[in-house]
Amino acid sequence: MTTVGVIGCGYWGPNLVRNLVESRRCRSVVVCDLDRDRLEYIRRRYPVAGATTDFQDILDNEAIRAVAIATPLCTHYPLAKRALEAGKHVFVEKPFAHTTAQAAELLALAEKLGLTIMTGHTFIYSPAVNKIQEVIDSGELGDIYYISSSRVNLGLHQKDVSVLWDLAPHDLSMIFSWLKALPVRVSAVGRDYVQPGLPDVAFMDLTFASGVLAHVQVSWLSPSKLRNTTIVGSRKMLVYDDTEHLEKVKIFDKGVNYRDPETFGEYQLSYRAGNIVSPKLDSYEPLQAEIDDFLSSLVSGRCPRTGGTAGLEVVRVLEEAERSLNQGGEPMPLEWTSVVGASRRVPV
Ligand SMILES: NC(=O)c1ccc[n+]([C@@H]2O[C@H](COP(=O)([O-])OP(=O)(O)OC[C@H]3O[C@@H](n4cnc5c(N)ncnc54)[C@H](O)[C@@H]3O)[C@@H](O)[C@H]2O)c1
Repeated sequence: MTTVGVIGCGYWGPNLVRNLVESRRCRSVVVCDLDRDRLEYIRRRYPVAGATTDFQDILDNEAIRAVAIATPLCTHYPLAKRALEAGKHVFVEKPFAHTTAQAAELLALAEKLGLTIMTGHTFIYSPAVNKIQEVIDSGELGDIYYISSSRVNLGLHQKDVSVLWDLAPHDLSMIFSWLKALPVRVSAVGRDYVQPGLPDVAFMDLTFASGVLAHVQVSWLSPSKLRNTTIVGSRKMLVYDDTEHLEKVKIFDKGVNYRDPETFGEYQLSYRAGNIVSPKLDSYEPLQAEIDDFLSSLVSGRCPRTGGTAGLEVVRVLEEAERSLNQGGEPMPLEWTSVVGASRRVPV
């Protein structure tokens, strides 16, 4: 059992605290936030062992072996670096860091010190996302043609990052995991309609070496909440709607068959519309599984499913997508072999 320090108790941090407190692998939790009111809020709700406004207290506490960082993006790198240097294992919320260079430095430091570093790609632990992985791996959808994803709603406008950095990490982490591949090109367009300099709407396009295309739409400026992903394969099609309570995943036996015409003028296409099946999903909280993966990896020494490498891959694509967005949507090539840590899913 591990004592864990949670840094940042704003909107998301309390979810980490709750899941850590409930975890059988966690001995106790000490919380840290610059805001005393947030510490008081946590103290009233959860049986934490301590609370401090000073991060150094967490670093000096020898009982704390690991920290979970849920602070704004610009603080991820400096806090994670100090924690590693103090000998703590580190869990950092998404996005892992603000630049590829920062991400690579954290990865290299963790490796040098023999410490675990993990990023909070929570969806990778969700029952629906895992079921979709199973369906794709089984070949049921056939060859994947394209993936299209919408993650839109009204707000919450962030003060420090664009909608791309806030929402797209979820879609990117899922797409890279499902395809077991990294994109070779990214482009994005977007606009800062509300806060000058911080795009609140963005449309991103990814190309994979296999020919698969992916489109990700993210927005804080949309009337209804959509969490919708469509995966179209050569045999079947799948729709994942995360706002659904039941039937989040539906597999459509739909498609189109093309036959080379034997005679001139013969009709070449036939459309197929068969059963729609919604597979049974396991029932557990993704964040509990994510915390469990982090804490158990400290004991076993194995890399968690969303280790720092997965964090770096997402950061790199966001960085290039932002560059493209700032250059009016110009496509950015992505070459991976020279990037530290990005060794698992290099496109071939
Ligand atoms: N995995 C997910 O599904 C998910 C969901 C929401 C947010 N997040 C991530 O969690 C992180 C935090 O987001 P949020 O919405 O909770 O932000 P927030 O602004 O609501 O909370 C951040 C908290 O960190 C505190 N803080 C800032 N700097 C600090 C420092 N140096 N030391 C100690 N405390 C400090 C602030 O006082 C604040 O209470 C972000 O990286 C975000 O992307 C992840």
